Parts: sequence; structure tokens; C-alpha cells
Amino acid sequence: MCGDTNLSGHMTDQPRDPATEVHRVASPDSTRVASYLAGRDEVSRVLLLYSGGLDTSVMLKWIQDEYDAEVVALTVNLGQPGEDYDVVKDKALRLGALDCHVVDAREEFAREYVLPAIKANADYGDGYPLFTALGRPLIAKLAVEYARKSGCDTIAHGCTGKGNDQVRIEGTVATLAPELKVIAPVRSWAMGRDEEIAYARKHGIPVKGGTEAAPYSIDDNLWGRSSEGKWIEDLAHAPDDDVFQLVTRPEEAPDRAEVVTVEFEQGVPVALNGERLGLVELIERTAELGMRHGVGIVDHIEDRIVGLKVRDIYEVPAAAILLKAHKELERLTGTIHQNQFKPRLDQQWAYLVYAGLWWEPLREDIEAYVEHVNRRVTGSIGIKLFKGSARVVTRESPNAVYDAQLATFAESGGLFSQQASPGFIEIWSLQSRMAQRIRGEV
Ligand code: ARG
Repeated sequence: MCGDTNLSGHMTDQPRDPATEVHRVASPDSTRVASYLAGRDEVSRVLLLYSGGLDTSVMLKWIQDEYDAEVVALTVNLGQPGEDYDVVKDKALRLGALDCHVVDAREEFAREYVLPAIKANADYGDGYPLFTALGRPLIAKLAVEYARKSGCDTIAHGCTGKGNDQVRIEGTVATLAPELKVIAPVRSWAMGRDEEIAYARKHGIPVKGGTEAAPYSIDDNLWGRSSEGKWIEDLAHAPDDDVFQLVTRPEEAPDRAEVVTVEFEQGVPVALNGERLGLVELIERTAELGMRHGVGIVDHIEDRIVGLKVRDIYEVPAAAILLKAHKELERLTGTIHQNQFKPRLDQQWAYLVYAGLWWEPLREDIEAYVEHVNRRVTGSIGIKLFKGSARVVTRESPNAVYDAQLATFAESGGLFSQQASPGFIEIWSLQSRMAQRIRGEV
């Protein structure tokens, strides 16, 4: 009747002209599929998540050339074994980084990310203890922190467009730092491995190891290690031995079993074989025991968030032992109803984390329940390690909902009267009996 409302809320009498309307919303950035992605002219100083590997080394140079931008590198130590951070830093600086920050985030990773996972018995898809999925939100949070500190406008990472990690990192940046932009060169630069190596050669970027065959794609931290690529993509191909870089092959593990006792206080693992240890060290020592005995090899088919079904080879020696011990102790201290209910929340927690939604409030809501249950998860669990298996053999807890006197076959009396059982059975089976009768089946 009287025109439409423009953006500032005023009524106008001008009829809307579709041509100018379209023109008004279209901008040079309109082909960008997400608002947090950086346009070419928005990039002047980039915080690059740098591992020292081929992709991120090529990227360090490529960003400087392609965007005419400065690069600050950030390398995060989450306990990946055998990394020499001086070498990584030196390489970044030689490739022209303004600076290379190396952050030891092992403590924070263990306390704030791995520990909640232990309390939630975190496992995605029956076998993946989420080590990468737990690490990414922390890495991205640190990227935001260091980008702000170093005056960067953009964060760059080396994830491909087919994986979960891009979701975890970019989801974190977009959530925590709406003012920062993201670039993901591997997603767009259309260089294959050979081109990357050629680029590296041309620009004097050292390439580690042989260049003939693509290596496994590895990601690791103190909670585990994954391998992807090569024959792993052939589902009918049983694992080649060379993929196992942490865990001893069970065939070669010692002939003598070893029992490890893990002690928990309120769901937190605090001691190993009676020795109190900080969480990082406890995880590392548990991993060593598992590795020696061939424990924690997982050959996993996985449904990624982006829809792909893939295969991963995981080596998770610490998680295989600590999750098993925690789960056992929790079951011992919980009632039948708690024990039936919590796995549903645990599964939802694991899914959120896997799916890159670490900052989703539901995660903390679930953790409130998980924490409450874990107040009683105190005691110790003995696990026997032998040629690839980890089996619970002993349990002890002041909070066990267990009474040996009641559980034994022989005795009657106290809180349990065997004479009362038939009355219970009659009432317990009432609805089933009625239903069968109504169906005419009895
Ligand atoms: N499939 C696992 C996950 O999505 C491991 C991914 C490892 N990441 C990597 N960039 N290699 O969490």
C-alpha cells in the first residue's frame, strides 16, 4: 500500500526496483561462501598454524608471495612424540616468518581437554578416542590468542577441504574471534604433492625424508596417533607393519604379561602402580606400557562430519588403558540406572567433540552431569597387558555399590532375602505376562 520498509526502518514510497535491489546486496565478495573467509585484499598479516611439514612450509612461503603478506608462525606442542621444536622454529624463521611461537600446551590439553574425555569415556564410532578432535579446538583457540597478540588479521591452517579438522579449526575461530578471517590454502591452491615438492625445491624449502612416495598422513598428540593415506584407503588391505610407529606389534610384544594399576580420585587418574603422577606424565607413562605390550591398535572405519566414510589406523596405547580403567571404576560405583543412562550422554559428548562443536553449550551441560557422577569415581583398577590385550583383573573402591556378602551365592539374609525373590519376579514380569496373554500366545 504505502511502499516498503528500508533497512533503517523508514517507510519509502519508492517501489522496489529489482535491478538496483540485486545490485545493492551484491558485492565483490558475494562469491565468498562464508563471511569469515578472507578476501585477497583483507590479508596483511597472517597467523599460520605451522607444523614444519611440507604443506605448512610451502604455505609459509606461498602466503608471503601470493598475498604479499607477513606471516607469524605458531607451533603447538600437544605432546606429539619425537618433535624437535628448535628445528621447526628455525625452519619457519628461515622461510621468512616474522616470528615463530612454540607453545607447550600439554598441561592445558591434558587438564581441559583429555580429562573431560576420560570422565565421559569418550569414544567415537567404537574405537576412536578423539585425540585429534580434542586437540583442534585448543590449537585454534591458541591461534586466536596469538593472532591478536601479534596483530594478525587472518589465520591460516593446512587442512584440506575433505576432513573434519577444517571444521574444528574454522568453527573455533569463527566462534571465538568474529573479527579474524581465515584462509585455507590447501583447499584452494590446487597443488598436488609433486607440485608442492617442485614449489619447495624452487624456493629452497627443505623437504624431509624421501620424495618418491607420499608418506602416510599423520596426526598425533599425547592421547594418540592416526595414520591415513596409502594402502589404508584400500579397505581389503590388512595393515602393513610400517604403519605402526608407536605400538609394538602384538606378535612381537613380551611373552610375560604385566599388570598396571591405575588409581582415580573423582574420575581423575592420579597414580600408576602406586606412584602419584601429574596428568601429562601419567598419560605418557601409561602410553609407554601400552606400547610395549602391543595395546591400543585400532583399524577404524569412520563417518566424517563432511559425509565421507574413511579408514584410519589409530595407535592409542594410553587411551586404551585409561578409558578402560575409568569405565570399569565408574560402572562399579554407579547404580544400574546411572550405568544405563550415562553412556547416552557420553556418546552425545563424543559426537559434539568429533563434529567440531567444542564451543557448543550442550557440551558443558553434559559435562555438569558427567562431573556429578565422577565425584564418586574413586578407587583403583588393575589391568593386565599382554600381547595386544588390556583386560581388567582387579577393582577396588570405597564407593563400590557392591557388597561381597550380598553377592555371594551361599548366603541369605541382611538386605537380600532369597525367599522374597519369587514375589519380586511375579510383579516384575506382570506386564510381559499380561501382554502375552492378550496376544493369545499363551
Ligand atoms: N579421523 C580423525 C579425526 O577426524 C583423525 C584425523 C587426523 N587428522 C589429520 N589431519 N591427519 O579426528
